[in-house]
Amino acid sequence: MSSLLFSPFKLRDLVLANRIVISPMAQYSAVDGCAVPWHMVHLGHLSESGAGLLIIEATSVRRDARLSPGDLGLWSDENEAALAPIVEFCRCHGGARIGIQLQHAGRKGSVTVAWEGQREIPIDKGGWPIHGADEIPYPNRMMPVALDLTMIGELIADYAAAARRAHRIGIDLIEIHAAHGYLLHNFLSPLSNRRQDAYGGDREGRMRFVLEVFKAIRDAWPSHKPIGVRLSATDWADGGWTIEDSIVFAQRLKTLGCDYVTASSGGTVPEQKITVGPGYQVPFAERIRKEADIPTMAVGLITQAAQAEEILSSGKADLVALGRGMLYNPRWPWHAAAELGEETFYPPQYERSHPSMRRGDFLKPARQA
Ligand SMILES: Cc1cc2nc3c(=O)[nH]c(=O)nc-3n(C[C@H](O)[C@H](O)[C@H](O)COP(=O)(O)O)c2cc1C
Repeated sequence: MSSLLFSPFKLRDLVLANRIVISPMAQYSAVDGCAVPWHMVHLGHLSESGAGLLIIEATSVRRDARLSPGDLGLWSDENEAALAPIVEFCRCHGGARIGIQLQHAGRKGSVTVAWEGQREIPIDKGGWPIHGADEIPYPNRMMPVALDLTMIGELIADYAAAARRAHRIGIDLIEIHAAHGYLLHNFLSPLSNRRQDAYGGDREGRMRFVLEVFKAIRDAWPSHKPIGVRLSATDWADGGWTIEDSIVFAQRLKTLGCDYVTASSGGTVPEQKITVGPGYQVPFAERIRKEADIPTMAVGLITQAAQAEEILSSGKADLVALGRGMLYNPRWPWHAAAELGEETFYPPQYERSHPSMRRGDFLKPARQA
């Protein structure tokens, strides 16, 4: 019997050759938001890995939306021109379809890159003023400026402009980053949003900004191309955002034309109590899929082919995303295909490494269109 992992999945007009997604992973290597040769090698290689979808890292919609000085961006013509040849390379030589994650770091912004400890960069040392839903700082970070109504309107337009740029350079899918304690999640969580206006208060008020961002992107992005949203299904903290909130949020997103939800978790407060283990966020993907009736992407310590197959075949999710597992073993989809008796994309230059070719029987592996 053929596996679900290697069966196609359709999102609007986009057909993924299989259900393996490379999770967005920030590389902190851009210069003023512009991709550099690192991105060409990193993304170019991953696009040839046999995964169905490669989602480009969290990409800032404004310069001051960055988490670190090395964040990728899509706010300027220069950013667009730097990313275009990389997307073109992936389209010409890779088998994966290409998504991009649109991001604003919110109250966590203006820090050093990950391997330098994500320490606050003060404004007099090259940092920038940061923004949040409210004047509630993340520990050891500067005080965020609460977005006023004018800034909210401008920012919604910035998200839409970034989506138009993504379309122009041939990107197939947008994922909106509304997780991990960044700006959109700042609005959703009662732990970071105590606003008294229409963008705070009850769940409806706290969801308002994110839903408005979603609508603006949906209007700016062609109707045949899909949009997903990554959310933190729970804050893992008392008084925070919950899985029940996420289900209602996913239902609302679905009515606006959202094509899938990625169930991640956490990031709002450092005192979160996360139980980490294999597939630890899969139950969130399962509940959202069943209770909001929307396709879900599971992510978080999915490392084995049989595990990925079970998540799909038992109806817990429609897609599985791998992050660290793909960095550790960038040909994970090839090995998963071999284990499950399936075929996936190999670039012709590498075909002779396919197990059937190594046995010397010269069978040509199936290649994706
Ligand atoms: C190097 C690195 C960078 C990451 N950057 C992002 C990012 O840009 N956007 C995001 O939503 N998650 C990011 N994540 C989280 C991953 O996408 C993924 O959700 C997480 O690592 C759990 O999946 P895994 O256990 O397969 O790694 C990053 C993770 C790593 C390891």
